[in-house]
Amino acid sequence: MENLRSSGVDSSSPSVAVVQFAPLLGNVGGNIQQLEALLQGVQADVIVLPELASSGYAFADKAEAIKAAEPLAGSSFISFLTHTAHKKGCSIVSGFNELDGSSLYNTAVLVTASGLVGKYRKIHLFWNEVDLFEPGDVGLPVFDIGSLRLGMLICFDWMFPEVWRILALKGADLIAHPSNLVLPYCQQAVAVHALCNRVYVATANRIGTERNLTFTGGSLVASPLGEKVIEAPVNGSFSASCSMDLSLTRVKKITPRNTLAESRRPDCYSLLTKHLE
Ligand code: ACM
Repeated sequence: MENLRSSGVDSSSPSVAVVQFAPLLGNVGGNIQQLEALLQGVQADVIVLPELASSGYAFADKAEAIKAAEPLAGSSFISFLTHTAHKKGCSIVSGFNELDGSSLYNTAVLVTASGLVGKYRKIHLFWNEVDLFEPGDVGLPVFDIGSLRLGMLICFDWMFPEVWRILALKGADLIAHPSNLVLPYCQQAVAVHALCNRVYVATANRIGTERNLTFTGGSLVASPLGEKVIEAPVNGSFSASCSMDLSLTRVKKITPRNTLAESRRPDCYSLLTKHLE
């Protein structure tokens, strides 16, 4: 709660980049090669890549998904991200097909020059993902990476305002949102989540078609004022970066008599924590 109150104006302006591309289905090595080329010209404090950037998305079944998954320890994909973060002096958030024992998770990893520093496992699984992945079991962590506080959501999580609010309540300045979007309207919604929670949102979406799914591109960065600061085209690989004004995320004053923290009425929200029959 303390974090949603004004926690001191931060005058620094770290930068964030979104990278949009078409991962190759079941080809971790090929995706590393693609990203190596794509990331060459990208410079930012935080770089956000799409959901399941290591593996592609539309697996026929769990056996196919497992073939393209890696455990976090010893992962070639995470080792590539670590090397890249070291070279660029940045943090990277990427979707990752995570194998943990015999379980698969649709995970977002946070990697710096020191290696893996955090992970989030997707809570709200979309459509056939329920046949492949376990639901997320690590909550909604926020990581202080020095230049800012960062939370992560993955794709279909966008539909659930509760998780955006929880990350804002925990003090996130930036919500990195690796995505493989197929529905046409998320890109409108995330800008509203950014506005209502006074956070930056970086949605890195993918492009291309896998089996019967066509992905919608349009990666974006939305500001705490609901403006789309970066907007990618629907088609084509894309990357761009922008700076973030942390005074907008840390001072959540809406009017002289309303702040986002004090005007909330949690006593009226108890239905949100109940399972409906
Ligand atoms: C999605 O959650 N990949 C639509």
